[in-house]
Amino acid sequence: MVETLALIGTGMIGGSIGLACKKAGHVKRIIGYDTNPESLEASKALGICDSIEYKLEDAIKEADLVVFSMPVQAIAEEILRAAKCAKEGAIFTDTGSTKAEICSLVKEKLLGMAPVYVPAHPIAGSEKNGPTAASEVLFKGKLTILCPFENTPAWALDKVASFWQAMGARIEKLSPEEHDKIFAFTSHLPHLIAYALAGLLEPRHAPFTAGGFRDTTRVAGSDPALWTEIFKANKGPLLEALKGFQEGLHKIESSLKSNDFNALQGILTKAQQFRRKVQ
Ligand SMILES: NC(=O)c1ccc[n+]([C@@H]2O[C@H](COP(=O)([O-])OP(=O)(O)OC[C@H]3O[C@@H](n4cnc5c(N)ncnc54)[C@H](O)[C@@H]3O)[C@@H](O)[C@H]2O)c1
Repeated sequence: MVETLALIGTGMIGGSIGLACKKAGHVKRIIGYDTNPESLEASKALGICDSIEYKLEDAIKEADLVVFSMPVQAIAEEILRAAKCAKEGAIFTDTGSTKAEICSLVKEKLLGMAPVYVPAHPIAGSEKNGPTAASEVLFKGKLTILCPFENTPAWALDKVASFWQAMGARIEKLSPEEHDKIFAFTSHLPHLIAYALAGLLEPRHAPFTAGGFRDTTRVAGSDPALWTEIFKANKGPLLEALKGFQEGLHKIESSLKSNDFNALQGILTKAQQFRRKVQ
């Protein structure tokens, strides 16, 4: 149970956290803060937060648990700024889609400050943004990755794990580097490919699109600014994943060019077998 929760960033993910932990009865009070007053006020109107604050310090000072849910490039900086006014014993966590850069920036500078930071990434989301897209069931049955440091106290790790579990999430632990390598393949590359594919088509093609195009490019409807920063923060692992994808495309291309349709079918069958395992 959390006495006072501060949501720093009350967009789609922050909003979903507010709704989900209220539904679970896991928090007594939620204070919201967002740099965009419209998002902030909407989060109050939508019942995500019990109260809102227009200054980070005011939202933080009484919070036992603070969740940072803003674009990845701002997370480390806001954690360090908030650490200066955190309550004794407070725990910080976040929802950023990349982990290595945020963790190294925070780990180095948070030393000696009061709050304990437990890095997190919920593997649940949508192409929509803002508090109006928040859902109280977003995390139900989904994974949340925690990336604790070697010296993260067990009590803080347990508290953050229980918080996500109360919202219906399952927990896995990874190092920040493992996290970024894996999600380069399973999340960042698929977004990049969806953007590339959707960007290839011309307006005259639009009336002729159907389920196949919509399914493959759904995530290209996501916020370009948010995803540019995710690609930037995970550039190395993403370039590695992209290299693998280009090699795969070349294999398909050469089987087509050389009329080797057995090889082509083999490639498609292997892909189908993997896809059928992932539901
Ligand atoms: N969208 C997804 O599917 C998804 C899934 C998992 C994790 N995430 C991660 O969750 C985080 C939030 O993403 P989202 O989808 O909720 O985006 P969003 O655009 O819906 O919400 C982000 C909110 O952060 C606010 N914000 C920006 N800078 C801020 C700052 N310095 N201080 C306080 N608020 C600030 C914005 O005004 C906005 O309301 C990102 O780090 C993203 O990588 C997103």
